[in-house]
Amino acid sequence: MPVRNTATHYGSVAMFLHWLIAALIVVNIALGLYFPDLPRADPSKFTLAQIHKSIGLTVLVLSVARVLWRLVNPVPPLPADMNGALKLVARTSQFLLYVLIVAIPLSGWLMVSASRLGLPTPYFFLFDWPNLPKIGDHEMWEDVHVYLAWSAIVLVPIHIAGALYHQFIRRDDVLKQMMPGTR
Ligand code: HEM
Repeated sequence: MPVRNTATHYGSVAMFLHWLIAALIVVNIALGLYFPDLPRADPSKFTLAQIHKSIGLTVLVLSVARVLWRLVNPVPPLPADMNGALKLVARTSQFLLYVLIVAIPLSGWLMVSASRLGLPTPYFFLFDWPNLPKIGDHEMWEDVHVYLAWSAIVLVPIHIAGALYHQFIRRDDVLKQMMPGTR
């Protein structure tokens, strides 16, 4: 499988980043919906919060790499016979997902950086991830983070429904373009 994208298929780097980021985001949405409601006295709350932050920061790094890789590679086209309005929906939702995979973890990082508590982020308990300069306040970034995360909770199922529509209703090659070992 070629490393770079071709005119018809995503390459191995784009596929690897797509599926790894997708899996990490699903895990992190689940963690984000779970750990904040645990009682303060529960020791797993601290651990899960650190894992949530570490996974999120990993997503941020991978997503920046993914956007840069996207900019220097050809993008396999949608089927020529696809309805123009649906193409617009597909491309717009894909663009919004690119924005979200960077903006969600960035807003989380800004949130913890703006906290008055000044708590460190032990990245997978290996080293302390640095904070950003304090911009705005914690509550504002928390609202932004929650709002953006919920946008992903809405958009990701739409994106998956689109992929399944291509695979099982239109029966075209769009999902295969992003599947390893299908050419
Ligand atoms: C893939 C990236 C990320 C996703 C998908 C994600 C998702 C979420 C979700 C769904 C919530 C719960 C929202 C709600 O209360 O309804 C949440 C909360 C939270 N996230 Fe993230 N997050 C990500 C990255 C980060 C990063 C990088 C940080 C910090 C470095 C972070 C820090 C937090 C914190 C502290 C909360 C709890 C906020 C509260 O106490 O209500 N997140 N996240």
